[in-house]
Amino acid sequence: MTDEKIPVAGVIGAPIAHSKSPALHGYWLKRHGLRGHYVPLHVEQSDLAQVLRTLPRMGFRGVNVTIPHKQSVLDLADHVTDRAALIGAANTLTFRDDGRIHADNTDGFGFIENLRQNAPDWRASDGPAALFGAGGAARAVITALIDAGVPEIRITNRTRTRTEALRKEFGAKLTVYDWVQAGNTLDDAATVINTTSLGMTGKADFRVPLDGLSRDALVTDIVYTPLETALLEHARMRGCRTVDGLGMLLYQAVPAFERWFGERPEVDEDVRQAVLSA
Ligand code: ATR
Repeated sequence: MTDEKIPVAGVIGAPIAHSKSPALHGYWLKRHGLRGHYVPLHVEQSDLAQVLRTLPRMGFRGVNVTIPHKQSVLDLADHVTDRAALIGAANTLTFRDDGRIHADNTDGFGFIENLRQNAPDWRASDGPAALFGAGGAARAVITALIDAGVPEIRITNRTRTRTEALRKEFGAKLTVYDWVQAGNTLDDAATVINTTSLGMTGKADFRVPLDGLSRDALVTDIVYTPLETALLEHARMRGCRTVDGLGMLLYQAVPAFERWFGERPEVDEDVRQAVLSA
């Protein structure tokens, strides 16, 4: 027996049973032959501060954060990265040796890496992006696209006040379009992204007329249940390249796994299947 500490990490949220993160990290630990544990933790809002003070003392190296804590953890962290501050949410907390909490957001990294790996010719700078939705996921994607050099982002959302607010916050690269005229955002768009929850199993499909869309455009969805949403199916039938949303979930976890367990994990078909069947 050695007294070397076995690394432990997890995911906090409420509810937490649906989270795919334990299956993902668990698969990688096994695949890389690493000693370590990754556990789902149901944490209510009223307990959040105390839980975050306690976890480092219990030997946790860090936690992923999901609904409803992604915003509130920023106030409890000792250090917040610029990108997490800009997005206004964190999905990854790392506990330093002295117990201090470092908050980061890797959702934007996951989004861009998914496109880069699955559509190697794609560049954010290829042309305007048409983005649907204005929630937390939209903020992460907008930040990543601007970072990656997109010339313009056309944003459309059912609730227009939210897109107007994003325009004020993220600046001149954003142009606000009306939800009822969503199709107008597609003229000469190089990248099309659905960040709404429409298209998810149990919800209505996200539908936009693709008539004006170039066949050179790349279309992606952050929804991954089902993998092929109606949007992706129509885009594929039109001849466009499509990338499903599962990769975003997988790639956002890569930096955290490496930080906590010491090896950079592989993203491939085997891990996709492991997560899908979880
Ligand atoms: P997340 O943090 O995952 O992005 P969110 O903040 O709840 O979640 O945002 C969900 C997005 O899906 C929003 O853009 C929402 O539009 P509203 O801002 O108008 O609520 C969009 N959305 C959800 N259900 C929708 C529906 N039935 N029709 C159109 N948009 C919908």
